[in-house]
Amino acid sequence: MLTHPPLQIGLAGFGNVGAGVYKNLFKNRELLRERTGRDLQVRKIVVRDPSKVRDVPLPADLVSTDLDDLINDPEIEIVVELIGGTERAFELVKSALLQKKIVVTGNKALLAEHGRELFALAEQQKTPIYFEAAVAGGIPIIKTVQESLIGNHIESVTGIINGTCNYILTRMAEGGLGYEEALGEAKDLGYAEADPTLDINGWDAAHKAIILASLSYGCWLPADEIFVEGIEKVRRKDTQFADKLGYTVKLLAVIQLHTDSGAIEVRVQPSLISKDQILASVKGVYNAILVCGDVVGETLFYGSGAGQDPTSSSVISDLADAASRRGQLETGNGRTGFVPHGLYGRPMPVEDTISKYYLRVEADDRPGVLAQIATLLGKQEIGILSVIQPEDHDEEVAPIVLMLHYAPFGVVRDTIAKIGALDCIREEPVWMRVEG
Ligand SMILES: NC(=O)c1ccc[n+]([C@@H]2O[C@H](COP(=O)([O-])OP(=O)(O)OC[C@H]3O[C@@H](n4cnc5c(N)ncnc54)[C@H](OP(=O)(O)O)[C@@H]3O)[C@@H](O)[C@H]2O)c1
Repeated sequence: MLTHPPLQIGLAGFGNVGAGVYKNLFKNRELLRERTGRDLQVRKIVVRDPSKVRDVPLPADLVSTDLDDLINDPEIEIVVELIGGTERAFELVKSALLQKKIVVTGNKALLAEHGRELFALAEQQKTPIYFEAAVAGGIPIIKTVQESLIGNHIESVTGIINGTCNYILTRMAEGGLGYEEALGEAKDLGYAEADPTLDINGWDAAHKAIILASLSYGCWLPADEIFVEGIEKVRRKDTQFADKLGYTVKLLAVIQLHTDSGAIEVRVQPSLISKDQILASVKGVYNAILVCGDVVGETLFYGSGAGQDPTSSSVISDLADAASRRGQLETGNGRTGFVPHGLYGRPMPVEDTISKYYLRVEADDRPGVLAQIATLLGKQEIGILSVIQPEDHDEEVAPIVLMLHYAPFGVVRDTIAKIGALDCIREEPVWMRVEG
């Protein structure tokens, strides 16, 4: 039996995710009604172009093209922002909070850029922002970090949180595809946007890492405090050499507290991980996040990091939460989204972070080349763990792959720049971290 009136929802955006939310709210309406005690009703939907042909039919009686209609309708309790982008979405979310309308969003770019301001406004207005869909699509990682692991100091979060990059790297390693070919395939299959820049340059993953790091360490982290590298320079050769050496290449988001110094490492980079590590088995468009807490130990979350149904599952979970918890804030309970609780740790400059490294150079095939490279590495006390040079290369230029010992990132970067400047080196060296 329903004890509360229907929850009236204003849906901004009826694209991939918005249409999924509408479709699945309808599909599981009874279930949600039983579980939340309220009927979750979409009252208005705003799109740019109502005449567009869509897989999920747009209910004509609910459509508008004016986002302010959601703000100005007093019956709407919740605004679901699924339009993407950071400008209009920011205005919409701000206006909704000012009207004390609950916000649900899947917009990681918006939160990474304006999270500090929006969460402060949410707290001031005692009106929550829910954002489960903003990180790793269908994987419930936000609630996990905020609620299930609340009694833990988070020691580290390591994630494969961009499905497009993971698909491209998997196809290069296992299908033998070149980078451009794998990217083209990802586009054809709808895994990559027509403009995949934010995916392949690492910033989509970085936006998610900013959110996870901020939740884990208690303070909203500015985007310029984190180090981001994409997968553009990774070549089929590198995925194949990594394979020979017992590794696989992944775009990894690494968030780690160094308890000795109190510093927090936050970075997104293509990295080699040993094939026997659990994250190495995460393939294709799937995402996975490994969270270590000081009480719980190691926990792993795996699933679809994007896509209509998985992402709408997260949005609907936020809607159900909002339906069940409505009113708690007025009584002093409940959470408005993210309240800074004092940074424990300070961001660590990437130059000081330490790991092993993979280095590939394309060099003249003549005696003495390896000695020149080894001399430059030796001067900086960077140890060489192993070297491979395949015999089946062309006559003049040969790839040389070196695995380097633990060293600070800044020292390795400067030394590799010097190696790249040697006369015998024909292309910009490719190098990546090896995560241990
Ligand atoms: N796609 C995923 O798998 C996924 C996963 C996790 C999070 N997200 C996030 O979810 C959000 C939505 O993603 P999406 O893939 O659903 O995007 P999308 O397919 O491009 O859909 C965007 C929707 O917003 C509407 N829209 C855009 N600007 C508008 C404006 N100024 N006024 C009115 N309507 C406007 C569009 O209208 P028209 O239809 O008329 O063009 C469209 O319906 C993004 O923030 C994204 O980062 C997406």
